[in-house]
Amino acid sequence: MNSIVTLTDVNKTYHGTTKETRALQHCSLSIEKNAFTCIIGKSGSGKSTLLNAIGGLIQVDSGSVLVNQQELTKMNKKELARFRRENIGFVFQFFNLLQEQTVLENILLPFDLNNEKADLDFVNHVMKYLQIDDIKNKFPCELSGGQQQRVSIARAIVGKPNIIL
Ligand SMILES: Nc1ncnc2c1ncn2[C@@H]1O[C@H](COP(=O)(O)OP(=O)(O)OP(=O)(O)O)[C@@H](O)[C@H]1O
Ligand SMILES: [Mg+2]
Repeated sequence: MNSIVTLTDVNKTYHGTTKETRALQHCSLSIEKNAFTCIIGKSGSGKSTLLNAIGGLIQVDSGSVLVNQQELTKMNKKELARFRRENIGFVFQFFNLLQEQTVLENILLPFDLNNEKADLDFVNHVMKYLQIDDIKNKFPCELSGGQQQRVSIARAIVGKPNIIL
């Protein structure tokens, strides 16, 4: 089997101030390489939690999270940060753009973090395709919601990650 993501019996409970929320219960899932996969469920059902677990942004309580042949549950914070840099492009639900940085600087962030030279031809191609090439010197607070969303998508794509979440 050629799966890039395999979750086995994953559990994640949030210990909030008022009550516990079991966001993932016995969650098992396998995603093939090169697949475009949608996770559908009602609000609050655990989709973001699942994506955060696959992207190494949160640790789960139990089970196995195997992504690109790496077991995330065995990693410490530093190893997870490195895993994210090397494998994951993340489009956050609330975009998470850096407010002090321009559109272009936000998009080039993955290269800065990886100490890599940007593939500027590809960056320009992505920005044109997403129709944000004309706003590259603006700051996030000067953008519409859709523009912010597309900047976030561009940032997730330009590093050519193995997985886009
Ligand atoms: N940090 C947290 N602390 C406590 N509870 C949380 C936390 N994050 C999420 N939850 C709870 O866990 C459940 C799953 O949340 P999650 O964000 O994964 O849902 P979702 O499917 O992405 O929802 P939406 O479609 O609204 O984005 C929800 O009931 C939510 O209230
Ligand atoms: Mg969500």
